Amino acid sequence: MSTEARWLEGLEERARRALPPTVFEYLVEGARDSVTANEAVAAWSSVRFRPHVLRDVTQVDPAVTLLGHPSPVPWGIAPTTLQRAVHPEGELAMARATAAAGGVMVVSSNAGTPFEQIGETGVRWWLQAYLPADRTLAEPMLERAVAAGATAVVLTADTPVVATKYAAGGSVWDNVDRGMVRVNFDPGYDDRAGSEKANDLGPHDIDWLADKSGLPVVVKGLTRADDARRCVQAGASAVWVSNHGGRQLDRALSTAACLAEVVAAVDGGAEVYVDGGVRSGLDVLAALGLGADAVFLGRLALYALVEGEAGVAALHEELRVQTCEALRLAGCRTVADTRDLAAHPPERLPWQPTSPL
Ligand SMILES: Cc1cc2nc3c(=O)[nH]c(=O)nc-3n(C[C@H](O)[C@H](O)[C@H](O)COP(=O)(O)O)c2cc1C
Repeated sequence: MSTEARWLEGLEERARRALPPTVFEYLVEGARDSVTANEAVAAWSSVRFRPHVLRDVTQVDPAVTLLGHPSPVPWGIAPTTLQRAVHPEGELAMARATAAAGGVMVVSSNAGTPFEQIGETGVRWWLQAYLPADRTLAEPMLERAVAAGATAVVLTADTPVVATKYAAGGSVWDNVDRGMVRVNFDPGYDDRAGSEKANDLGPHDIDWLADKSGLPVVVKGLTRADDARRCVQAGASAVWVSNHGGRQLDRALSTAACLAEVVAAVDGGAEVYVDGGVRSGLDVLAALGLGADAVFLGRLALYALVEGEAGVAALHEELRVQTCEALRLAGCRTVADTRDLAAHPPERLPWQPTSPL
C-alpha cells in the first residue's frame, strides 16, 4: 500500500512519464475533439452531497453484491485493450491484484492474454464482447470464455464503428506487437466475411448472448432512459452507463449527468453500473449516491498498471481508503445508506440575482 499523500492523483502524470508517448496517447485519447473525454472527470466533481449526521459510522462497509456475488468493493475493472503494452504482465497483473482485492475484472475481447490464464489467477471475471455482423463467428470466443470461468458477458453497444481519433504522436498500432492483442480469436478471424462489427445490434442480441453463453448479460455503453428500459425488457441483468470514456461519439453527455435518469428508468429491474472519469473515492461516492450499483475503472486502472500488479493493488487499497473516508464523512455505513446523498446542484440558486445588480 502506498502512503504517499495524493498518490492516486499522481498516477496519470507518472504514467505519462513512464510510458512510450504513443502508448500514453492511446490511453488518454478521446474521439475527435475530446470534448466528452475532457468533461468526464469534472462532471463527477460537480455532483454535490448532503451528508447525514448523528449516525454511528464506527464501522463502514463499501461492499456490494453484483450479479448475485458479493464484492467487498463497489468498483470493478473496465475492459481495456492493450494492457500488455502498459505493462509486460498486462491482464495477468490486473487480474492478480483485482482477485486479491475481491473485485470483478471485465476482460476485453481484444485482450492480449489467453482467457485460461486469466481464469487461473482466481479473479472473478466477465467477458466483454463486441458482436460481429455474422453472430456465429462470436460463438468460439464465447465458448472459450465460459470454459475459462467467465461469469457474465458484457455486450459493448456503443461501437458500431471505432470512432476517429487524432493521435498527436502517430498511431500506437504502428509500433505495437500485434501479438499483444486479440489472442483469444481464432487465427484468421479478421479476414473472414462477417467479422466486421455489427451495425444492426438490437435487443434480440441480449437474448442470443444469454442463450449461447448461459450467462447473465450486461449491456455497456448506454446513456439514455429509453435504451435502458429496452435492455431490461429484453432480459439484461445489468445496464452500464458509459460513453466509452469519450472514445466513441464525441460531445456525448457525461455519464455523471446521465446516471440518475437511467437509475430511475430501470427502477430496480436490473443492476446499473457506470464508468467514465472516475478517479477518486469522492467520485465513487457520487456515483453510488446517484444510484449506481458499481463503478468501473478504465484509465485509472491502466495508469496503475504501469506499476504492475503492485500498482493495481495499491490502486484498490487507496480507493478503498478514500471511499471509506467519504462514506464516514457522509454519515453512511453502507452503500445502501448513500442513495439519497448526491444531487446535481440547481443551476440557479434561489439567492442569486436574476439580473446583474
Ligand atoms: C485504452 C482504452 C481501451 C479501451 N478498450 C475497450 C475495449 O476493448 N472494450 C470496451 O468495451 N471498452 C473499452 N474501453 C472503454 C472502457 O471500458 C471504459 O468505458 C472507459 O475507459 C471509462 O472511462 P475512464 O477511462 O475515464 O474510466 C477502453 C478505454 C480505454 C481508455
